[in-house]
Amino acid sequence: MLYEAPSIDDRAVWDILMSMLHLPAVTAADEVGVFAALREEELTREALAARVGADARALGIVLGVLAGLGTVVRRDGRWRATPLSRAYLDPAGGYYWGGLLHRFKNDLPYHARLVELLKRAGAPSGHVEGWEAGQIPPDVARAIATFMHAHSLPAAIGAARDGDFAGVKKLLDVGGGSGVFSIAIAQRHPDMQASILELATMCEAAQKYIAEAGMDGRVDTVACDMFRQPWPKGYDATFFSNIFHDWPDDTCRELAKKAFDITPQGGRIYIHEQLMGDAEDGPLTTACFSLLMLLATKGKQYTLAELRGFLESAGYVDVKAIPTSPYYSLVSARKP
Ligand SMILES: C[S@@+](CC[C@H](N)C(=O)[O-])C[C@H]1O[C@@H](n2cnc3c(N)ncnc32)[C@H](O)[C@@H]1O
Repeated sequence: MLYEAPSIDDRAVWDILMSMLHLPAVTAADEVGVFAALREEELTREALAARVGADARALGIVLGVLAGLGTVVRRDGRWRATPLSRAYLDPAGGYYWGGLLHRFKNDLPYHARLVELLKRAGAPSGHVEGWEAGQIPPDVARAIATFMHAHSLPAAIGAARDGDFAGVKKLLDVGGGSGVFSIAIAQRHPDMQASILELATMCEAAQKYIAEAGMDGRVDTVACDMFRQPWPKGYDATFFSNIFHDWPDDTCRELAKKAFDITPQGGRIYIHEQLMGDAEDGPLTTACFSLLMLLATKGKQYTLAELRGFLESAGYVDVKAIPTSPYYSLVSARKP
């Protein structure tokens, strides 16, 4: 089965899916007092977090969604309320919609969990603990592969089409999930071999996708816990899709360094992610995806500057980014 580009891109599907987080971001911000706190003053993320008693990381991610919705803006590093939120979302604004927000918030999936995370009273509820422990049961691995494959297939075809993989003969796809990126890139580059580095149960799940795509022999799997075990050598480049967004800064730096250490001089690293804008105030759908990472992982959607920082701290140079599909970019860098 050849992975062919769809006739229409999936931007609208991303927008529809992520819209589930619009209202919970507003009701949670209302409940912890964000709009009231920004009534009089422009505040940095840290100052606002201290003012409302919120976790700064969680608040920064929520602010990205609020900015995408036009209820706050960030200028010169400080957040401020907009005329919209001053009028309708501030309890003292005169036209406060609190009555309706409070009427519906408890029926909203995610409202209570976002409030808990903002108040440091909750933990992510995804698979991150199993990933950290290096153990995911086989049925869970198959379920993760199914949902990841669904949202990654169009993006993988875009990354394979637009990415510069010239000279890459052997690619190591770290945390490659169902193998969708390895398959798409290897199909596009007939002289390339790709290996999916994954937890053992995910390697088993990926076999089905490799076989369905007719890519046995060109794409294989390497069972490896990326945190505990040595990574295989002999690859010209490493590839990470939707991996950095699962982890905090120090883990991202560790992953970049592990990739650097097994890469030969002149070899490359590719990071496929939805990038937040430089001011971390959108795009709205990417900000919502970041909020999903807050709910389910220890990471967030990073800016290009943040990814550049991780890569340069490992020793990479020539950091570049190109857009490859709706909301996604492929960031690449070279080992000097
Ligand atoms: C968000 S998914 C990304 C999958 C794929 N790259 C994509 O974009 O469709 C994260 C992947 O990281 C893998 N992963 C998490 N912890 C890992 C570990 N300790 N060692 C190896 N892989 C791990 C998971 O099994 C999962 O498939």
